[in-house]
Amino acid sequence: MDIIEKLKWRYAVKEFNTNRHITVNHEQTLRESILLTPSSYGLQPYRVVWIKDEELRKTLVPHSFNQDKVAKSNILAVICSETKLDDAYVDNYIERIGEVRNIPVEELKSVADNMKRTLNNMSAQARRNWAGRQAYIALGNLLTVAAVINIDACPMEGFVKKEYDKILELDKYGLRSEVIVTLGFRSANDRYQFNAKVRKKESAFFIDL
Ligand SMILES: Cc1cc2nc3c(=O)[nH]c(=O)nc-3n(C[C@H](O)[C@H](O)[C@H](O)COP(=O)(O)O)c2cc1C
Repeated sequence: MDIIEKLKWRYAVKEFNTNRHITVNHEQTLRESILLTPSSYGLQPYRVVWIKDEELRKTLVPHSFNQDKVAKSNILAVICSETKLDDAYVDNYIERIGEVRNIPVEELKSVADNMKRTLNNMSAQARRNWAGRQAYIALGNLLTVAAVINIDACPMEGFVKKEYDKILELDKYGLRSEVIVTLGFRSANDRYQFNAKVRKKESAFFIDL
């Protein structure tokens, strides 16, 4: 597999093929690509609402600047950041480390204190920005892995976060939406797939020292 060819193959799909469906195996690969995303301290200050229900996706179209691919793709992934990044959140994570690595939580106290200090030293806005940035790393991973397994996608910021948060009752989970991704297969009629990719010239992009 030539990964660069895969990255050239991918593009932000405008129109999906409604007749093709992602296999269960590929769906699981996509989910794991998000789950395995690295995050600062490993705190994963994000979760994903994975929406296959077409009716629900249809209700979100008007709040997505009428981009109907939200309903016409196979899956809509709503990447959300955590809103309650407090000491209890860190303690939960520490417990999880203890469970997975079989370490008594008392031995992880200094690690926990360090994380709590970092989070508590941030303003609410800084914490929010930090969590949002982590969520975008998950977005990148998902897009790359999708391309590698020939699944099409469109990352989207063209949606009304407030409306998504309300409809999906994200408050209930202590989440807010950050960015969404539609997943499925490109339509043969989508002319965007034939556009040449526009990126900065390598010489104007890298600063080689
Ligand atoms: C964070 C982000 C938000 C985007 N929002 C939208 C969107 O709402 N609708 C859309 O059609 N494309 C959206 N795009 C797609 C970009 O326009 C596209 O990735 C960019 O023009 C580069 O083209 P390519 O992805 O086809 O290579 C978004 C891309 C990113 C990374």
